[in-house]
Amino acid sequence: MSPFRITRTLPEDATDAALRADVLAGLAATPKTLPPKWFYDAHGSDLFEQITALEEYYPTRAEREILIDRSGDIAAATGARTLIELGSGSSEKTRYLIDALTSLHTYVPVDVSESALTQAGQALAAERPDLHVHALIADFTGALALPDTPGPRLVAFLGGTIGNLLPAERSAFLASVRGLLSPGDALLLGTDLVKDERVLVRAYDDAAGVTAAFNKNVLTVINRELGADFDADAFDHVARWDADREWIEMRLRSRTAQTVKVPALGLAVDFAAGEELRTEVSAKFREEGVAEELAASGMELSHWWTDREGRFALSLATAR
Ligand SMILES: C[S@@+](CC[C@H](N)C(=O)[O-])C[C@H]1O[C@@H](n2cnc3c(N)ncnc32)[C@H](O)[C@@H]1O
Repeated sequence: MSPFRITRTLPEDATDAALRADVLAGLAATPKTLPPKWFYDAHGSDLFEQITALEEYYPTRAEREILIDRSGDIAAATGARTLIELGSGSSEKTRYLIDALTSLHTYVPVDVSESALTQAGQALAAERPDLHVHALIADFTGALALPDTPGPRLVAFLGGTIGNLLPAERSAFLASVRGLLSPGDALLLGTDLVKDERVLVRAYDDAAGVTAAFNKNVLTVINRELGADFDADAFDHVARWDADREWIEMRLRSRTAQTVKVPALGLAVDFAAGEELRTEVSAKFREEGVAEELAASGMELSHWWTDREGRFALSLATAR
């Protein structure tokens, strides 16, 4: 078995403090919001994996198709010896890339979900005795303390997760990714593309209700971590397309007027009947917009690949 290390870059009480700050600010805001990273405890990570297998959820299949077709091109263009993957989750699709990168020395999966990192990292280390796997439990929106590994580096950000960042967060994030790149390094970015509203909404509101359960899991996390008394059954899952901003919003709509207590924060939060709490945005992209955002962060788009139906894109960019 190859070396597998897992490093927590933030102490556990920092995660706790971040959750408290986000819940305090988000539930006091108008409209109420919560950041999507709190979906992903072990159960939330598991539910996300179930979503990726749903018939309605095309992004995973589309991105996998591109990786199957293009990993050889990505390997030839980058010659990466270190692959850093932000928000790696199960690392399932990443295997195509890992197999194609014949000079790969170290894989660094980065995620807030310890359970996802442990499962994926241990499986990979067992399968690939030649590969160093150094997992980091970290928030990719903060400064990353990356291990000292051989270049060139390829930073991968797959799954369309960049769409979960709001525009200002996205530009700050891209600027920090740019700061990780030395000459010869590259960014591989997965973006879901603007398409028919019905296809988009279905992907976030599946018939079996798995996405609804995933959405409501954030309430379970707050109940467990902060002693809150959210009743998940008192909220409905909502997925809506915002045509002006070109993003999907996931929300939780309060079925009745109710007050939720969050004892760890000394909070009592009133919800009006029908009031909605925004839990995630998932922005959809166009090629020109991606190229512009990369350029604004000091990077240059060098390759743009889509799946055969043009639903999802992978782009490769280098530092300018
Ligand atoms: C939409 S899922 C994508 C997972 C995987 N990359 C894929 O393509 O299937 C987002 C992943 O990012 C992780 N994540 C979300 N916010 C994060 C943050 N701020 N820092 C680190 N990881 C985060 C989640 O735990 C989850 O594994």
